[in-house]
Amino acid sequence: MSATPTDRSAVLSGVGGWLPRRKVGNDELADRLDTDDAWIRSRTGIRSRHLAALEEATSDLAVEAGRRALANSGADTADAVVVATTTPDRTCPATAPLVAARLGLTGAAAFDVGAVCTGFVYALAAGAGLIISGVASRVLVIGADVYSRIVDPEDRQNAVVFGDGAGAVVLRAGHASETGAIGPFDLGSDGAHEDMITVAAGGSRLPADPGRTSHAERHFAMRGKEVYRHAVARMTDSARTVLNRAGLDVQDVDRFVPHQANLRILRTVAADLGLHIDRCATHVETAGNTGAASIPLALAAGHADRALRPGDRVLLTAFGGGLTWGSCLLTWPALPPTAEPPHHGEESAS
Ligand code: UT7
Repeated sequence: MSATPTDRSAVLSGVGGWLPRRKVGNDELADRLDTDDAWIRSRTGIRSRHLAALEEATSDLAVEAGRRALANSGADTADAVVVATTTPDRTCPATAPLVAARLGLTGAAAFDVGAVCTGFVYALAAGAGLIISGVASRVLVIGADVYSRIVDPEDRQNAVVFGDGAGAVVLRAGHASETGAIGPFDLGSDGAHEDMITVAAGGSRLPADPGRTSHAERHFAMRGKEVYRHAVARMTDSARTVLNRAGLDVQDVDRFVPHQANLRILRTVAADLGLHIDRCATHVETAGNTGAASIPLALAAGHADRALRPGDRVLLTAFGGGLTWGSCLLTWPALPPTAEPPHHGEESAS
């Protein structure tokens, strides 16, 4: 059965996740920063996060997640690789072509998407667009970040919040009526607030010349309290918008998979939407905020522990620097069990 232009859709056909081996508990951070486990848990819900080794870059995590998603989908090819990241291996070139080459996909279209913590939802929309427009018939969409490379390890606000990781999904061409079909989407931005989440130096505006820039300008900065308020408002609005677009009510949502920024934000957004917290995927407790990786990692974890069941209506909602936000609906497909769960790290010494 061939799809007509109107019913051709991107269908999710595989998922995978990868966390670096080193697991860092709150007590290990409290040993060197002016913080403690009780503060971190009460303000963020985070108990531990995984941090990349010094020699591990974003592409290394992305390749592991991508390999798992492809294996889960039963395919070993893709026409396009889209990597959402805020921490590319290098400023130039993009990370996606290297990831494609390392996965044996040389020749595939490959590009990065920069939408900070909303990056995965934007990349999913880009991947779905490539399929719906007929440019590609299978796309690997990866969210991968190594925030520990841009967060100042002495910055107690951000060092406790962020973790490193990668998650990936495979999209294939199919029909809008199939389980696994992706869409509709809602995407938005407000660049008037570019300073709310930023690494000020290192781009064309302010090159990261140590003589001309401060230590703070060369590291990740976030106005936490303001971001918190915007995150709650934008995620709630965007989730409602995409539900309206689909003609659905919030009670039609079986699993809500929001960007894992902070457990309090997730609980507030779920409550504001009128969704019971039991329907909300929470992965932040053991991975922290992994940026563009957080939603696909939560999908991989939800698939591994069977919180996501075939036919479930799933709502993805994200918010991040830019400011950017976005939401997407999909039905969860029947996928083979994943060979390996995304969590495999060692316990921290403390
Ligand atoms: O992923 C993209 C989107 N990101 C987000 O959505 C993150 C949104 N923001 C947040 O998650 C929270 O704002 C944080 C977790 C980052 C901070 O939590 P908060 O409840 O907003 O704390 P705060 O910034 O208002 O700080 C309260 C106090 C301050 O002390 P004073 O001024 O009241 O004396 C901070 O200096 O807590 C202090 N503080 C800490 N204390 C112990 C900040 N970080 C720490 C820390 N340990 N790690």
